[in-house]
Amino acid sequence: MEFKEVIRNRYSCKKYSDRPIEDEKLTAILEAGRLAPTAKNLQEQHIYVVRDPAALAKLDTVTPCRYGAPVMLAVAFDSTNVFTYPGGGRDSGTEDAAIVATHMILAAADEGVNSCWLNFFDPALAKEALGLPECEEILMLMDLGYAAEGAGPLPNHTKRKPLDQTVTYI
Ligand SMILES: Cc1cc2nc3c(=O)[nH]c(=O)nc-3n(C[C@H](O)[C@H](O)[C@H](O)COP(=O)(O)O)c2cc1C
Repeated sequence: MEFKEVIRNRYSCKKYSDRPIEDEKLTAILEAGRLAPTAKNLQEQHIYVVRDPAALAKLDTVTPCRYGAPVMLAVAFDSTNVFTYPGGGRDSGTEDAAIVATHMILAAADEGVNSCWLNFFDPALAKEALGLPECEEILMLMDLGYAAEGAGPLPNHTKRKPLDQTVTYI
């Protein structure tokens, strides 16, 4: 798909069919995350592919936002392997994981796979539910699947501020 079309086509899907995601499409999505840039090329991300019904049920206890998706990704990062900004008040963990997640969500759109970025969950509870190692933190969860019949973007999908409200040339 043409890049601008990918950007236009992606929307937050909130109702999925039970059609599974083909393995090659899932691999293409994960590969797009693998190629994402990270600070100092640390690659501290760790992606958990959750598609076993028992594991999905565990995530259902920490978020109401699976919407029937057959696959969820948990995008985590190793908080002991991050770049610390000068000043020491910030590090690259969430930043790098967000870039990885963005690559994957756009790759999903390119593959014709619907998605939704989720932050409506307690990261500590999600970490516990998936049994992650102590050093890892979950940045986000991502629903992946095919939209159910009749599902589509919500009205707010087209309500973006004009550039002059979010961009300043100085
Ligand atoms: C950082 C982030 C967190 C979000 N968390 C949730 C969520 O927990 N549950 C949900 O249903 N949608 C969630 N969304 C989807 C947003 O509601 C949606 O992206 C926004 O309303 C714009 O709609 P669009 O993605 O269809 O353009 C999230 C989106 C972003 C970018």
